[in-house]
Amino acid sequence: MSLTDTYTLSNGVKIPVLGFGTWQSADGDVAYKAVKWALDAGYRHIDTAAIYGNESSVGRAIKDAGVPREELFVTSKLWNDAHSHDAALEALDTSLDKLGLDYLDLYLIHWPNPSGIQAQGSDAWKSANADTWRAFEEAYASGKVKAIGVSNFQIHHLEALAQTQNIAPMVNQNFLNPSDQQADLVAYNTAHNILNEAYSPLGTGKLVDLPQVSNLAEKYGKSIPQILIRWSLDKGFLPLPKSTHESYIQANTDVFDFTLTPEDIGSLDKLQSVGELHLDADKATF
Ligand SMILES: NC(=O)c1ccc[n+]([C@@H]2O[C@H](COP(=O)([O-])OP(=O)(O)OC[C@H]3O[C@@H](n4cnc5c(N)ncnc54)[C@H](OP(=O)(O)O)[C@@H]3O)[C@@H](O)[C@H]2O)c1
Repeated sequence: MSLTDTYTLSNGVKIPVLGFGTWQSADGDVAYKAVKWALDAGYRHIDTAAIYGNESSVGRAIKDAGVPREELFVTSKLWNDAHSHDAALEALDTSLDKLGLDYLDLYLIHWPNPSGIQAQGSDAWKSANADTWRAFEEAYASGKVKAIGVSNFQIHHLEALAQTQNIAPMVNQNFLNPSDQQADLVAYNTAHNILNEAYSPLGTGKLVDLPQVSNLAEKYGKSIPQILIRWSLDKGFLPLPKSTHESYIQANTDVFDFTLTPEDIGSLDKLQSVGELHLDADKATF
């Protein structure tokens, strides 16, 4: 496996196995430099979102890096204020415009049950997601997005969507690291040929010094973040580590010359709940 290796989505689209995260990378110089360093370091998969507010800087870095478009995989996400058919299509155009791209490789519904929809009643999210997904299917059919998926969807959200979808989500992006392995959700996604993307593979930085991983780091001659990223890959997930430091950005790619033994994966699996857990989408207040 290497940085340019790919998983194949259910529709045949290839997606590089390691993506670069951009949440909390401030618009302007910070996000621009981070993405530029990432592309220079060989990442070919960039994960952004409308709500990150940095799509313009990400787009500028993509343009300046000069990587041929067909070698790049760019994901963006629909924010919580646009959960309807028309608003979703409009939001997609805005994201494309800011990124300076004429298509996205992957477009995700960021959250299944935004607070605005919760306020409309207990089941409002079902029809909102169904309408939104109809727009996603149209965008997919038109070629504006090469793959479509969801994020932070639990099993009941996926099952509700399945009642009306014509095309199944190809990806479900979730909080996945040794502290929260979401085993039932991961198994459900896998059984339905939905790729498990792992956001916060380093626990948004809170796991990078985890003492329980230092023995493994020493054993493999790697850093704790590298062990955590490798754990994600060895689980068959697609990790999306984020950094704004060039040295970390580079170091986080140095995970392809080893694999963890099943015993070592098992010892990391025992760290469930050692740190934070995923946020319950049905209780999200945004
Ligand atoms: N779909 C969603 O709802 C959702 C939610 C959260 C995240 N995501 C996606 O997943 C990506 C990653 O998740 P995340 O941003 O929560 O965090 P993460 O990748 O788990 O951790 C990032 C943090 O770890 C630090 N770090 C990175 N590499 C390091 C290294 N080698 N050594 C020491 N520290 C290191 C970074 O520091 P510096 O930045 O200071 O370098 C940053 O503070 C996001 O950026 C976003 O693209 C999606």
